[in-house]
Amino acid sequence: MTTSFHQDLLRGRVALITGGGTGIGRGIALALAEHGCDVAITSRRPAHLEPTVQELQARGARAVGLPADVRDPLAVEEMVRATVAALGRIDILVNGAAGNFLCRAEDLAPQAFSTVIDIDLKGTFHVSRAAFPHLKTTRGTILNISTMAHFGGTPAQIHASAAKAGVDAVTRTLAVEWGEYGIRVNGIAPGPVGDTEGARRLFAGSAGDRLAGRTPLGRLGTIDDVAGAALFLCSPAASFINGVNLVVDGGLVLMNALSSLDDRREEGA
Ligand code: HXC
Repeated sequence: MTTSFHQDLLRGRVALITGGGTGIGRGIALALAEHGCDVAITSRRPAHLEPTVQELQARGARAVGLPADVRDPLAVEEMVRATVAALGRIDILVNGAAGNFLCRAEDLAPQAFSTVIDIDLKGTFHVSRAAFPHLKTTRGTILNISTMAHFGGTPAQIHASAAKAGVDAVTRTLAVEWGEYGIRVNGIAPGPVGDTEGARRLFAGSAGDRLAGRTPLGRLGTIDDVAGAALFLCSPAASFINGVNLVVDGGLVLMNALSSLDDRREEGA
């Protein structure tokens, strides 16, 4: 990424990034590595890890890929232990692992709802809890990847919206509980981000164009847009920011039914 930050911003720090092999998680991993951070990435699919580990190492970072399913608390504890064994400490935890698909509530099987809650919400809790002793030692920070979809009602997203609303509650609660240990806990709420698995599943083609057209900044987000915000929130530049959910959506969340009133200007009214 092109950067506004000093390349040594995170020198000597260690980050653990769930879902770090692909998409937004990978983008954050690369951005942190480009700023001096060593990185452990985890995914339930081992094939997602090795190519990104090589990219991280090519940027000069010490990097490891550790397969684990965030739904499994014991596997998570083992993965956290392996991170510390390999890289010595954990200063930054990014909870990025997520699962999603489009499905309206009346068609959604109970197991389908549970699966997304288990990955996004319970996974965030499992990894945060397992990393806590290490973050307490380093007075580290947690970044939870959320969404702005649940700020309103997003059709065919009851599972992801409920899960991410829960993630936001985890962010706020841990910010209060663990603030006394010097641990900052924040979130990022991206709008639609192109070139991700989520984009492919949720808004491919003309749906993406429509969303870009509705966004005040006139485009979809990029992985680098989110990675830049992550870099800031994980860095000492954000040392007194705790418990926020930073919306990174080009202003899309501000649009409402009245936003089209301005169209009358173009009609010459
Ligand atoms: C309806 C579906 C479905 C679909 C799966 N299920 N896909 N239901 N429509 N398209 C149901 C299955 O039928 C099953 O229920 C249950 O969900 C579990 O599915 P499995 O395939 O057995 O689970 P698993 O292999 O663990 O797959 C997890 C997954 C999958 C989440 C369901 O989609 C996945 O692995 N996705 C990859 C990661 C991903 O989605 N990344 C994008 C994140 S985007 P039954 O009853 O049949 O057992 C994101 C943005 C959030 O997070 C912001 C929102 C706007």
